[in-house]
Amino acid sequence: MNVVVIGAQWGDEGKGKMVDYLATDAQIIVRFSGGANAGHTIVRGGEQFALHLIPSGVLYPDKTVVLGTGMAIDPEAMFAELDMLAQRGIDWKGRVLVSDRAHIVLPRYRDIDKAMEASRKNPIGTTGRGIGVTYSMKSSRDGVRLADLFDPDRLVNLEPEDRSYIERWRDKLAPMAIDLVDYLSKHRHAYVLFEGAQGTLLDLDTGTYPFVSSGMSCAAGAAAQGGIGPRSMDKVLGVFKAYSTRVGNGPFPTEFDNDSQSELCQFVRDTGREYGVTTGRPRRCGYLDLVALRYACLTNSIDSLVLTHLDVYDTLDSFEACVAYKVRGKLIEYFPSSVRDLEDAEPVLRTFTGWKKSLKETKDYDHLPQKAQDYISFIEEYTETAIDIVSVGYDRAETIVRKSPWIRY
Ligand code: GDP
Ligand code: IMO
Ligand code: MG
Repeated sequence: MNVVVIGAQWGDEGKGKMVDYLATDAQIIVRFSGGANAGHTIVRGGEQFALHLIPSGVLYPDKTVVLGTGMAIDPEAMFAELDMLAQRGIDWKGRVLVSDRAHIVLPRYRDIDKAMEASRKNPIGTTGRGIGVTYSMKSSRDGVRLADLFDPDRLVNLEPEDRSYIERWRDKLAPMAIDLVDYLSKHRHAYVLFEGAQGTLLDLDTGTYPFVSSGMSCAAGAAAQGGIGPRSMDKVLGVFKAYSTRVGNGPFPTEFDNDSQSELCQFVRDTGREYGVTTGRPRRCGYLDLVALRYACLTNSIDSLVLTHLDVYDTLDSFEACVAYKVRGKLIEYFPSSVRDLEDAEPVLRTFTGWKKSLKETKDYDHLPQKAQDYISFIEEYTETAIDIVSVGYDRAETIVRKSPWIRY
């Protein structure tokens, strides 16, 4: 059975926490996109792990994790992350595999990424990890794949500097390289979890272009880039926060106003620990944008939603969520492609009453305060999508499951 987990906003929705949680029932976890631009946090029993390249199932000693075809893999960063895991007692040897079709990030790509960003009239705010350059090289057919490391004809065509760099990693990478399609076909009866990176609104095609990342973070990415075909996805889960955040530049219709909402913004940022895992940058914060969330449900065929960070609203008397936009006087209810329209969009907000109670200890949906349930029901009706999992804290234990994605109903 194949379950796909993706971000339904601008990344950092809590994918790492959910993948770690859902991996209990999986045998294989495949990350299908992005690279060291991602930062996925897992907290279990008070111990925190920040992962960038290694799939979030790695903490279980009996799971195999795979870095998929769609990833941009920086070997230096990957082995540094594996060393960190080993130092913290995670024995990963033999169960971290890499698709041999995945592309390699070369050190000079990171420099080009930073130089391109510095020269942009409207900077994107990239993480500087060379991700966009790796995907551009891939599209222009000049990229370096893991498979090239084992192909003398390909190696000989590389610049000496690039060749000696990748050859440094060859012996360490050799036992990890697999043909992902073949591997998954041999494990077709396994429970496989596909872990997305970034989010729908940062996806190259579905996101707020050009203020996006450059991989496929939408659900479709799990297919071509995760080693299965589109009809083999049994369920697509979209993770979203009770509010919205964004790191880097680009339109953000519900962003809190710097002056009139600065206190609320700081409260959400501090309570939700909204600081980038990869860059440490404070995340921009705002109310939940239901127009964008519905768009994410439609564009990804999301079967069910996972609501995270509901606890961040525990102490608020009231809060709002965006149900439509007013763009230069015109009311619209769909998510526009134009950056200008999104920048001009004034959110039409609906007010919700707070529940004024800590949710952290809640284990059953029925025990959530009525006001919290009202917020959830409204989102479900608006998006026409069920919310099957609710996260009420960063720890793995702070999770309420209404319907497990692993059960075929
Ligand atoms: P990812 O990129 O989607 O994996 O998300 P990040 O790890 O970048 O950011 C999510 C942050 O929120 C991390 O600090 C998590 O530990 C934390 N987190 C995840 N779920 C919850 C939740 O339900 N409540 C709270 N308060 N924090 C959460
Ligand atoms: P996870 O998987 C949030 C953002 C960057 C920048 C833009 C392009 O943790 O949700 P890039 O370096 O990818 O070319 O930067 O995309 N970005 C993310 N924002 N979460 C992420 O990943 C992100 N990965 C990239 O901040 O605005
Ligand atoms: Mg993150």
